[in-house]
Amino acid sequence: MTKPVIRKEDVLIEALPYIQQFEEKTFVIKYGGAVMEDEQLKFSVAQDVTLLRKIGINVVVVHGGGKEITSLSSRLNIETKFVDGQRYTDEATRDVVQMVLAGSINKDIVRRINMHGGRAVGFSGIDAGFVKVKKYNKTDLGLVGDIVDVNPLLIKNLLREKYLPVIAPIGIDEIGTVYNVNADIAAGAIAGALDASKLVYLTDTEGVKSKDGLIRHLTKEDTEKHIIEGTISGGMIPKVESALTALESGVQKVHIIDGRVEHALLLEIFTKEGIGTEIVSE
Ligand SMILES: Nc1ncnc2c1ncn2[C@@H]1O[C@H](COP(=O)(O)OP(=O)(O)OP(=O)(O)O)[C@@H](O)[C@H]1O
Ligand SMILES: [Mg+2]
Repeated sequence: MTKPVIRKEDVLIEALPYIQQFEEKTFVIKYGGAVMEDEQLKFSVAQDVTLLRKIGINVVVVHGGGKEITSLSSRLNIETKFVDGQRYTDEATRDVVQMVLAGSINKDIVRRINMHGGRAVGFSGIDAGFVKVKKYNKTDLGLVGDIVDVNPLLIKNLLREKYLPVIAPIGIDEIGTVYNVNADIAAGAIAGALDASKLVYLTDTEGVKSKDGLIRHLTKEDTEKHIIEGTISGGMIPKVESALTALESGVQKVHIIDGRVEHALLLEIFTKEGIGTEIVSE
């Protein structure tokens, strides 16, 4: 396939109204799937978030790290147990979660963004106790937390000083116990607490799909219908559910986009067509 000839100046000019519109706005971006695995994608997404920061958008990154948790657990001979497809977090696993999420993965993302001059600062919900949780109680998943409160002050202060917060989804309860938190849900709650303009999920699929293909636009009502009908399942559920919670808390738009496409973030934010699925209140 030959690429159409696109002039550089046209690309930049198409971006201008979006740059004006989004200056000083807050975007929360959740890293998942290939952007956490593939070297080239890790590099290009670090460039993208740095570019967004540099043109005046308040960028906040929230990341997961399921694969590395499983692999370090097995190196340490800690058994990985799943309950209804969800990881059971016993104390040993929780320690691994903390090592991996707040340690190796978080610092790797921070380092990569800073190689482009992005002023990234990495921390978790334990820092300043900003993500308050209680034990998840719908099923027993061990030390998995349900978010009770997100205090946005630490992030806001960093954003004011033009830092780029990179957040590991770990929370703390009122007696100081550390909990594993689902990264999609953490991203939604953080976006809500920040009154973000956009919440963007980077994932390994084009967006929300139905049997007729990619769904470009979803309202709250459509989304609820698709969950009930089973069109949306598995790993897409925590994304759309936290998308709806985020919209209720004042986030303007949620995007679920294909992180396997290089520079997917820029294509979504700076072009008329966009890519992926957008979810809005109505
Ligand atoms: N209607 C749907 N449209 C698209 N994907 C769907 C749908 N229903 C279920 N899915 C599944 O949800 C997956 C996306 O969630 P998943 O948890 O795998 O990604 P992630 O959260 O980005 O990555 P990770 O959890 O590894 O960090 C898709 O790959 C697909 O298998
Ligand atoms: Mg997932």
